[in-house]
Amino acid sequence: MKDILQKLEQRRDVARLGGGEKRIASQHAKGKLTARERIELLLDEGSFEEFDMFKAHRCTDFGMEKQQIAGDGVVTGWGTINGRMVYVFSQDFTVFGGSLSETHAEKICKIMDMAVQNGAPVIGLNDSGGARIQEGVASLAGYADVFQRNIMASGVVPQISVIMGPCAGGAVYSPAMTDFIFMVRDSSYMFVTGPDVVKTVTNEVVTAEELGGASTHTRKSSVADGAFDNDVEAMVEVRRLVDMLPLNNRAKSPVRPFFDDPGRPDHSLDTLIPDNPNTPYDMKELILKVADEADFYEIQADFAKNIITGFIRLEGRTIGVVANQPMVLAGCLDIDSSRKAARFVRFCDAFEIPILTFVDVPGFLPGTGQEHGGVIKHGAKLLFAYGEATVPKVTVITRKAYGGAYDVMASKHLRGDFNYAWPTAEIAVMGAKGAVEILYRSELNDPDKIAKRTQDYEDRFANPFVAAEKGFIDDVIMPHSTRKRVCRSFASLRNKKLENPWKKHDNIPL
Ligand code: HXC
Repeated sequence: MKDILQKLEQRRDVARLGGGEKRIASQHAKGKLTARERIELLLDEGSFEEFDMFKAHRCTDFGMEKQQIAGDGVVTGWGTINGRMVYVFSQDFTVFGGSLSETHAEKICKIMDMAVQNGAPVIGLNDSGGARIQEGVASLAGYADVFQRNIMASGVVPQISVIMGPCAGGAVYSPAMTDFIFMVRDSSYMFVTGPDVVKTVTNEVVTAEELGGASTHTRKSSVADGAFDNDVEAMVEVRRLVDMLPLNNRAKSPVRPFFDDPGRPDHSLDTLIPDNPNTPYDMKELILKVADEADFYEIQADFAKNIITGFIRLEGRTIGVVANQPMVLAGCLDIDSSRKAARFVRFCDAFEIPILTFVDVPGFLPGTGQEHGGVIKHGAKLLFAYGEATVPKVTVITRKAYGGAYDVMASKHLRGDFNYAWPTAEIAVMGAKGAVEILYRSELNDPDKIAKRTQDYEDRFANPFVAAEKGFIDDVIMPHSTRKRVCRSFASLRNKKLENPWKKHDNIPL
């Protein structure tokens, strides 16, 4: 009996070594942790329950029958993050380069099925050379089985991908269908075709880092939602994000104990808006001053910085924040910011996370670049996302809310539950100067007349009261009371019930 027990331990020890000490050393030399070390950091101590530790591939081509490594290049199972259940797979680059075989895919599919059935998030730690070359189409089939599960799990349980090594070819499409993608700087990359193929086909010479490194995907392509300096930071930050999310689409977000008075006034906000309407200010200051303990988890911080998206907590409860950023492009909406915010709003709505919107938007960015790039369709994404969202929506207009962008940014007309404005708000079709130039074109050569006209227009519209008179703004609030007002609003909306008409699915302008 003792022998048998010992044998089990021996087999486990061998499985835990993956591709062996030499390959583990080489992984460490690249600044990367192993698949198991990453799981240890990600999950609560001692909480990991592994599945399929001894699962082996079935390939008999290219001498593969002689190369059996227990677990077949991926460690899968479940555990907890601060006591809450998550499923995890972690690809082991030391085993056939973490490449995906038929059995490797089966292991991932198993935990994805369990995650959906049991209502818990899936976290994928990707570090793989792609399809197992020796297996051919069996490996491609395995990928497609994973893809199908990504699609079915979308909107049911949160799915988080962390790219911690190579991720190339069709393999990128599994992370691409998850809710969040994070990368590790200097040790991860994602592309559909690598630098060599790019050179052959287009003659472009590009490094893997330039083509698909963390900087490219967080700043240019927006494929990734964030990047971290190393594996340890990545695991710590994923834990922080999971702490903010519900386990599934039928569960509420966790309520964390909070030590920040919901009624806390912040008098510095009374001077946040500069006297000159064209002077920018940092909208992040407002977000941090409203949030519990100034804690903000920003999503896509380095892309389309003219809009800010991320999570805060109010009275311990998770709230999604969308805010125009006057520091960048005057906070206008454009193709990139609309796409970024639309995706975020839809995530929040899918997982019942209420949305707080701070508005200071001078309109949509003009220009051929925007029009030819399809700003009509992309801008409509954000409009659509806000309009279909049934979660509690609270909006605060701090300064400009001009034109179509006023409508888009969670206005009353898109079923905003509480729409507030600061006294500094200007709600109009456009700025006074532009309006006067159109309305009084014949007087343009008379600066005095134009100045008077501009003043008149400002007096009439550069305030929140016309909108308030019509009931489009529920109240004009003091900036220093913003936290108190939005906390009370969200508290009153905790039992909100709103349903859209039955449909198979909508047809958001993709
Ligand atoms: C089998 C693989 C492999 C793969 C790597 N290995 N990729 N084994 N199938 N796809 C093995 C290597 O043979 C090696 O084994 C070990 O993993 C480490 O690889 P190295 O090349 O030594 O590592 P490194 O220099 O760091 O380079 C990593 C790499 C490179 C850039 C990922 O290995 C590479 O280019 N691999 C092939 C990538 C690829 O073309 N994959 C298919 C993409 S198409 P030993 O025994 O020496 O340790 C695809 C389609 C998916 O994925 C379609 C889905 C629909």
